Amino acid sequence: MLTRGGNAIDAAVAVAFALAVTYPEAGNLGGGGFMLVALADGRTAAIDYRETAPRRVDEALFLDARGAVDQERRAFGHHAVGVPGTVAGLAEAHRRFGTLPFAALVEPARRLAEEGIVVQPALAAGLAEHARDLARFPASAAQFLHADGTPVEAGERLVQRDLGNSLRWIAEGGAAAFYDGPIAALIAAEMARAGASLDARDFAEYRPIVRDVLAVRHRGAELLLMPPPSSGGVALAQMVALLAPFELRREGGFTPRARHLFAEASRRAFADRARWLGDPEASAIPVAMLLDEAHLAPLRATIDPQRASRSDAFGPPLAEPRGSSTTHFSIVDAAGNAVANTYTLEERFGGKLVAPGTGFLLNNELQDFNPQRGVTTRDGQIGTEPNLARGGRRPLSSMTPCIVRRDGEVVLVTGSPGGRTIISTVTQIVFDVLEFETPLPQAIARPRQHHGWFPDALRHEAALEEATRTALATYGHVVEPAKQRWQGDAHSIARDPTSGVVQAVADDRVEGWAAAPPDEAPPR
Ligand code: DON
Repeated sequence: MLTRGGNAIDAAVAVAFALAVTYPEAGNLGGGGFMLVALADGRTAAIDYRETAPRRVDEALFLDARGAVDQERRAFGHHAVGVPGTVAGLAEAHRRFGTLPFAALVEPARRLAEEGIVVQPALAAGLAEHARDLARFPASAAQFLHADGTPVEAGERLVQRDLGNSLRWIAEGGAAAFYDGPIAALIAAEMARAGASLDARDFAEYRPIVRDVLAVRHRGAELLLMPPPSSGGVALAQMVALLAPFELRREGGFTPRARHLFAEASRRAFADRARWLGDPEASAIPVAMLLDEAHLAPLRATIDPQRASRSDAFGPPLAEPRGSSTTHFSIVDAAGNAVANTYTLEERFGGKLVAPGTGFLLNNELQDFNPQRGVTTRDGQIGTEPNLARGGRRPLSSMTPCIVRRDGEVVLVTGSPGGRTIISTVTQIVFDVLEFETPLPQAIARPRQHHGWFPDALRHEAALEEATRTALATYGHVVEPAKQRWQGDAHSIARDPTSGVVQAVADDRVEGWAAAPPDEAPPR
């Protein structure tokens, strides 16, 4: 799209449609996300295309007859599906900022679907891992599995005819084809068949919301962030503000002391997240209060540079219960326009459900609502009011697309998948670049950590050096390897406004590439 004269937004819309074909575990038409835009002329926008709960949903959505959380209902199939926002969000981004015809942005994706793609190892591995659950739903099985139930393998050609057809409808009819046309009708019919509440009116009422970016300053740079219903922007802003007076740049990098203080800032930001954050359309979210020094200074004063705190001391009161996937891409064009886009189906391949005739997986995003009122546990389950399920509400997200500007010029574009760890990954990268002036490739490669308040543990990537782990344990942290060996997949771009040099860094943790129009790519 850049080669054809389009801008970064055109490219982002085309990439988002294409990933719905080539990376169906997270790239999507059936999910939602956030797109941050920073234009070279200074304008910015935060496009919120998060899924919404169907009108007829209430906070008991995931409770069984005894009031216990029904994990099956959260994870699979119909009841966890929020109204998908992706197509509306991409159409809105194009309407406001795009320059090429919308159909031209959808066309490559349609071709990839109809002509087929050669299955890459990451997709094959994902399908192999989830084949049994995809097999629960006939249209999902028909799309991704062989007739005998085995998954499509690496090197095979995957043709997705129904998806190609949906993309053709979208290219021709725009977002209306999705929300007021054949696609909404097909999904509503499948929902009705299963007794789920999502219906055609929920689709017709869906709107993307273009919000003001959340902008904060750190070390002379301006951080452009996603406001609620993302929790990531507020948490990242709180973390850098909590850490600023510690002058960690004197440490010269992520030393054990820097990692300890980072975990303490993170513990407190996640406690506030649990207590305060949710959909701003549904209840008042006190963002200004949370970022005010009047709130942050006393919180900072509780940080002991020598000793880990206990998470019990922060956040909403705890009660005991009665009983990865997302993807991010960053784009910068020659004019200096930038897009940071993170979008998701919630879990890998969402709730594993394809509605017959549509060709794409539906999200299980409603799982991001707090499942049980009042039940906030040491395991990390949260039960506070602002993020209980309600009709029309958007579930709280951790997605944290981020664009950093200096003197009005874009210098960094980043973001990541990884559920709640997204916030830790993105904050760590941004902090690394701004505070320690670490070059982007090293900041991306550096072993990551996560402290999410509860569980009260400092989790780290397998690559974190033994000596650092031991040192962190001596501060009193419960130091544990993350369940997966890696945390996040943060495809990012650094830009030097003076030279105009753009450095794209593909995170090699999951899968991804850097690409540029031929005349702009450096010689090999
Ligand atoms: O919006 C959120 O915070 C989650 N639904 C994101 C899930 C996720 O990142 C899973 N994958 N890596």
